[in-house]
Parts: sequence; structure tokens; C-alpha cells
Amino acid sequence: MRSVITGSGVGIPKNVVSNDVLSKVMDTTDEWIRTRSGVVERRYADEGEGSAELGMIAAQNALAAAERTTADIDAMIFATMTPDFYFPGNGPIVQAKMGFAEIPTFDIRQQCSGFLYGLDLADSLIQSGKHRRVLLIGADVHTPLMPWRRGWSVTIGEDREVSREDYEFNTRFRDRTVLFGDGAGAVVVEASENGERGFILSRLFTNGSNMEALYMKGGSRQRPWIEPEQITSGELIPVMEGREVFKQAVTKMPEAVRAVCAAAGVRVEDLDILLIHQANLRIVEGVTKQLALPAEKVPHNIERYGNTTSGTLPILFHECVLDGRIRPGMLVCFTALGSGLHWGAALYRA
Ligand code: ACO
Repeated sequence: MRSVITGSGVGIPKNVVSNDVLSKVMDTTDEWIRTRSGVVERRYADEGEGSAELGMIAAQNALAAAERTTADIDAMIFATMTPDFYFPGNGPIVQAKMGFAEIPTFDIRQQCSGFLYGLDLADSLIQSGKHRRVLLIGADVHTPLMPWRRGWSVTIGEDREVSREDYEFNTRFRDRTVLFGDGAGAVVVEASENGERGFILSRLFTNGSNMEALYMKGGSRQRPWIEPEQITSGELIPVMEGREVFKQAVTKMPEAVRAVCAAAGVRVEDLDILLIHQANLRIVEGVTKQLALPAEKVPHNIERYGNTTSGTLPILFHECVLDGRIRPGMLVCFTALGSGLHWGAALYRA
């Protein structure tokens, strides 16, 4: 028995934010962002539109593609690092708003590796015989974590200048903020007796010894969990050592891809398509080079969305299925690395 993706869908917010627009709220340029990261534009959710909302749009679309209704699903996994609430997670919100039965929902937080871990978990739930149809959602809305202060309305279209003070404040975080966008993807994963297709295996890893390369403050060690001064000082903006994360990404993802291929008894060159977490086009190119894969086997869409964290892999998967870059019978590899650090790779026969 295999776990097969029977439908996929996306939830993409409407606000398109170009690099030039970002250069109105901080000291950056389209040229810097394009050459260092490959991002040309990203989407920002409206205020009031959280990751659960985008996840629900993706879920609706995935259910429709799989020709399933909420009544057919017997477990849900929601991967996000930006839930609507500190607790509970997005699972119960989606369960109630979309009218699922009282199915178990799992909220997981492996950041950029969230979808990859979710796929492995969905397969485990199915292989254990506990569930037959699992809805897996990956969604993130980063904009509330960004420092835009009173410049927010400018990023989504208001034509005015931000104050010098706000511009300088925002500039302190420009290395991180230019990379991210909001978005969601979802897949329906089902048990199938046709052993030809489906999830093959994965290799997942965690090493928390350098978690400070990418993390966000606030939490249970503080009394209270956040202080107003932490917000005004910018202490609650995610912390990122960009070069360290870059180095880890171009080392660990190729290792994971090689490991999963070796475990499955296939060669890296046998892969028909490699879906890499979309954090930076230079990372995608670096991993492609290390694995000696031709560029056409390694699609990317970071130009249009930036890094949507848990959303990148399901959005990319969906686009490749739609335009025929993923066709039945192809050997697909997913790989990701992100905050934790968590990383890994999974093999899937389309
Ligand atoms: N615009 C203009 N200049 C900038 C910007 C910007 N947006 N950001 C940084 N700079 C400047 C810096 O101030 C620095 O200037 P200086 O030389 O005068 O000091 C210069 O550009 C170089 O900065 P670096 O940080 O060294 O630039 P680098 O080439 O390393 O690129 C980047 C930075 C794009 C962040 C890169 O390191 C990267 O992509 N790292 C990986 C990040 C990542 O993958 N995160 C994903 C995981 S996310 C998750 O798990 C949630």
C-alpha cells in the first residue's frame, strides 16, 4: 500500500508587492534583491487574513482537485510557523470553519521543512492503518512578523512617503524582510493499493545546536511572554544569520537528497524532478550544482512568491502538476531546510 497525492491546491493572497515598492519603506533596491535572492515580487495577505484563511483556500482547491469533500477526510495536518493564535494551532480553526467531522488535527511547526515533515507524517498515519485520507496544509503569513511599523499601508499600495524614522527602523531588518512572502498550499494524501505510485521514503533530520541561526524571541521563558518594549525596539523581529543558513542549506539538502536516493536504491540522476524549498534562488542553484542535475529538472518560483516557508513546496508541486512538469510515473524528490534547523528529503512516484 502507498500514500498517494490525489489533489493539490494553493491559497495565494492578492497583494503583489514588488521590490521597488519595498524600496519605498527601507533602504534596498530591486537590483540587490534580485541578484542576492532571485525574488522579484511576493504576495502579502490583507490584515485579518491569516495563515488559517490562506490554508483553507488551498484546502478547498486541493479537495476539489481530488474530487473529495470534507466528509471524506479522516485526519488533518497543518504545518505553519505563523498560526492565527499562540494556541490552539490552525487545525481546529480549519476543522470548524470548513465543517470537517471531529477528526484529529495535527499542528506541526518545522518552519521551512514543515510540508516535508507533514508529508512524512501523513504517510506514517496512512501506513499505520489509522487513517486513509489525510489533508495536509502548509501555510505561512509572515507580514505580521515584519517591522513595517507605519509603512505597512505603503507596501500594499498607498502612495506616500514613510517617515525617516520608520525608514531607518525598517532598514535594520532588510536582509530578512525582502526574502519572505505569504502563501499556502495543500494536498490530499490517500491510501492506495496500487503499489506503483506514491510516497516511497524520506530521510528527516534535526540539529538544534545552532537554532540561533534562525529564530524568533518571545515565549514561555519570559514573564510575560512578550513585553511592549520588545516590539518597539524590534527585538521580536525574526533573527537570521543569513550566511550560516545559506551554508547549511547548500550542504545539508544535497546530503539529504543523496541519502534518500541511496536508501531507495536509485541514483540522483534518476530523479525526474527535484522540488527544493524556495528560500533563495542562489540556494536552489547551489544545490542543483552540487547534485549535478540539469537546471530543467529543478523548477523554481521564488521570483513570484519569495519564501512562503511551509507554503513553498506544495505551491511548487501544484504548479508543476498543472503545467505538466510533473507527470504520472515521474520520480519526484522534495527537499527542504529551515529554522530548527530541520531538514530532509522525500521521494515520491507521481
Ligand atoms: N538591500 C540592500 N542591501 C542589503 C540588503 C537589502 N535588502 N540586505 C543586506 N544588505 C547589505 C548588507 O547590509 C551588507 O552590506 P555591507 O557589506 O555594507 O555590510 C551587504 O548587503 C551584504 O550582506 P550579507 O548579509 O552578507 O549578504 P548575503 O550575500 O549573505 O545575502 C541573504 C544575504 C540574501 C540573506 C543570504 O545570506 C541568504 O539568503 N541566506 C539564507 C536565508 C534563508 O535561506 N533563510 C531561509 C530559511 S527561512 C525559515 O526557515 C523560516
